[in-house]
Amino acid sequence: MQTLIKNIKELVGVETTPRLRKQGKEMAQMETIKDAYLVVEDGKFKSFGLMKDLKEENADLVVDATGKMVCPSFCDSHTHLVYANSREKEFVDKIRGLSYEEIAKRGGGILNSAKATAAASEEELYDMAQQRIEEAVRLGTGAMEIKSGYGLTTESELKLLRVIRRLRENTPVTIKSNFLGAHGIPMEYRGHQEDYVDLVINEMMPKVAAEGLADFVDVFCDQGFFTVKDTERILEAGIKYGMRPKIHANEMAVSGGVQVGVKYGAISVDHLEQMGDAEIESLKGSETMPTILPGCAFFLNLPLSPARKMVDSGLSVAMASDYNPGTAPSFNMQLILSMACIRYRLTPEEAFNATTINTAYAMGVSDKLGSIAVGKVANFYITKPIASYEYMPYAYGENKVEQTFLNGKRI
Ligand code: NIG
Ligand code: FE
Repeated sequence: MQTLIKNIKELVGVETTPRLRKQGKEMAQMETIKDAYLVVEDGKFKSFGLMKDLKEENADLVVDATGKMVCPSFCDSHTHLVYANSREKEFVDKIRGLSYEEIAKRGGGILNSAKATAAASEEELYDMAQQRIEEAVRLGTGAMEIKSGYGLTTESELKLLRVIRRLRENTPVTIKSNFLGAHGIPMEYRGHQEDYVDLVINEMMPKVAAEGLADFVDVFCDQGFFTVKDTERILEAGIKYGMRPKIHANEMAVSGGVQVGVKYGAISVDHLEQMGDAEIESLKGSETMPTILPGCAFFLNLPLSPARKMVDSGLSVAMASDYNPGTAPSFNMQLILSMACIRYRLTPEEAFNATTINTAYAMGVSDKLGSIAVGKVANFYITKPIASYEYMPYAYGENKVEQTFLNGKRI
């Protein structure tokens, strides 16, 4: 099956020499081709170039993209997509003055979601998650990392991870799964949370590993949640089972989460609202992708992570949605692209890289996804007619995506 997209106003996010991630000054580099064509064959990018150089091809499908941009699909490297209930009552509590931590302390927050998730069947959770994925695809997302973490019991965590596995098998989106048993501390473990950590390590993890349900292991390492010591124990165990660490770090406080992530070779450390110079230093020269979650900072009115400073000091930056019912109820990566520019002062080129190739790196798939390069998986979208690629972050709140292709197939 061959598809030709012709008369593309601008082909965005091209890589002639593919890189696994973009760091520092490289983040400002984004190749584009004006008046371009793109050929896709058997689910992969086959060739691209200037329209004037297009040779006769035997395409089964020809799409005319006059006036439109073609961009690589977003990779959303941090989501909690499988959950049962929305939490708008807590949203109102926050408007009235309660903090996220106060709500969590009295049994709301993650525990509220865990209760509803325990009551939902695997089928119900699957159906809800599948609908969310369909909508995210319409907004330009082609890959997602999905965490468990609304289970907090062995049975419920396994249920969530099995739903993620079914989503991976049955949707066209590339999905990576993340075991986040250490997301919240159940009420009955308050005051002796190390016993819950024991449960995560000794009971949950062997079962998760036996069914091959998780690519990654995650911990909410932060003030009021899991300590650095808890985190070390969980990461060490996870690594033994072949799960690479990815950490929730420094959302509430300078928690030591960044350093512990780097120490254990985490593929990413995520959130980073609270970043000092020591945290930035610790990331230098590491394999760990600093990942900022602009939707969460927006929704909770948190301080902004110093993205500009990080890029200027030579680091990579990735930006993902953090889609979840408590702190980021939107999976709209176009909005993340806009926030990257508007709130974090990244240029449009840096913002595209932060939401495509660098998030692909943070999911361990940047050799296959995250840019338009020959041989990579053909996940891309065609925009509505728009003036320029800068219009994408500029016109926040508007869906600029007209057609989506995943694995070379139009969705
Ligand atoms: O990434 N910070 C921890 N976990 C989620 C929020 C989970 C929730 O409140 O339901 C996050 O923001
Ligand atoms: Fe999160």
